[in-house]
Amino acid sequence: MKTTLIKEILVSQPDGRDVTVHGWVRTKRETKNLIFLQINDGSCFASIQVTLDRDAGIDPAILDELKKATTGASVRVNGKLVESPASGQAVEIQALSLTVLGEAPAETYPLQKKNHSFEFLRENAHLRARTNTFGAIARMRSQMAYAVHVFFQERGFHYVHTPIITASDCEGAGEMFQVTTLDLGGLARSTPKSGEDAVDFSRDFFGKPANLTVSGQLEAETYATAVSRVYTFGPTFRAENSNTTRHLAEFWMIEPEIAFCDITENMNVAEEFIKFLLTWALEKCAEDMAFFDARIQPGLIETLKKVVSSNFVRITYTEAIEQLEKNATAFEFKPFWGCDLQSEHEKYLTEIVYKGPVIVTDYPREIKAFYMKLNDDGKTVRAMDMLVPGLGEIIGGSEREENLEKLEKRITDMNLDPDDYWWYLDLRRYGSVPHAGFGLGFERLLLYITGMGNIRDVIPFPRAPKLADF
Ligand code: 4AD
Ligand code: MG
Repeated sequence: MKTTLIKEILVSQPDGRDVTVHGWVRTKRETKNLIFLQINDGSCFASIQVTLDRDAGIDPAILDELKKATTGASVRVNGKLVESPASGQAVEIQALSLTVLGEAPAETYPLQKKNHSFEFLRENAHLRARTNTFGAIARMRSQMAYAVHVFFQERGFHYVHTPIITASDCEGAGEMFQVTTLDLGGLARSTPKSGEDAVDFSRDFFGKPANLTVSGQLEAETYATAVSRVYTFGPTFRAENSNTTRHLAEFWMIEPEIAFCDITENMNVAEEFIKFLLTWALEKCAEDMAFFDARIQPGLIETLKKVVSSNFVRITYTEAIEQLEKNATAFEFKPFWGCDLQSEHEKYLTEIVYKGPVIVTDYPREIKAFYMKLNDDGKTVRAMDMLVPGLGEIIGGSEREENLEKLEKRITDMNLDPDDYWWYLDLRRYGSVPHAGFGLGFERLLLYITGMGNIRDVIPFPRAPKLADF
């Protein structure tokens, strides 16, 4: 069956030729003589208008079908493509035949015409892509994923598939989902135990504790130190118990890793990458972006355009703390050198002080992961976080510690076991090179571009504490 997408029909000439479209009824409206249907197939934001003229005589079979063609019903329509007298659309279809493929009884179909709250739609996540907002998000997600690949492929980066199941904790934060085939239900009774309390993982599937990855970085580094420039793009999992509008338990992350690269070049790539993605959204997703600008965050397009043409502010963590201390009374959490930046601090820096994206570098080593390169001061590491207005951290990255002894010391200082990282240490033992990389949270990027307020609304089926439906 060859079908034509409504997207293609909407840009063709109204030459009276015969066309067939498929889709779901958005609305049905009747006047004395005319019946109008809006049909949407999700191929683009716009629906196509289908008209039937009672004066011209309507086949009784079609009238029967029309009764069933309520909001949400799926239909096939055949008719003539003509110029539309209605404003805002160039073409419409004068229907010759109409078939309802699947009914959507008004008494039970959850998505009636009226505007639904995002909360209600989250509970109906299996149907929400049929609404304007979530159709637009679905297309944006796909387009931005494509843009990610274009950006890196055009710049000599190789796409590496890092494992989803791993035995290492990249971020050292212990926020991991364990993967096991041991009988947890009967853990107390029947799970094999080696010592008094310890579970005997030698009898588990992998013969040792394993978990879902929190980041593909460590494995990406092995490939960067072989084929120079790589990126990963895949799902990551974090069991952080943060029920916020910016955290998911399962999210997608893009992680470039670049050999022969220092923190400055790393920041340059990150800035160029974000500008490339925003430009792609503005140019290639204009119709959906116009919707987000009009209905989700007024002024969004102007804001993003300004970001594209700006130079991102770059400051050290120490400078950031000085800025924050000047205004210490404004914060619930008093800023001090050594503290992790809270979201109120990130907001203040990006929205009040610098009014745009800010890259903060050289954080205290205590609050950053073990793999970050130690600065000569011995206190800070070559970290770089990109913060953006309305959202806070969108990118986290660093130059990596390439010195074997220093890295080993960092690992033991942080109470990690160097034996677990033997292969990672080998990258420093043999042919070590300066290298750097960063991670961009794909859903945070989508929040930024669409102006949506809750991260659960930019991924099809969100996973968060106590939430794993669908
Ligand atoms: O700052 P993070 O933890 O950095 C890393 O994982 C490094 N291994 C990246 C690297 O250098 N290759 O996470 C990177 C980004 C964050 O800036 C944020 O955008 C996103 O991942 N992120 C989350 N997004 C949604 N839900 C969560 N729970 C997230 N945690 C991090
Ligand atoms: Mg981070």
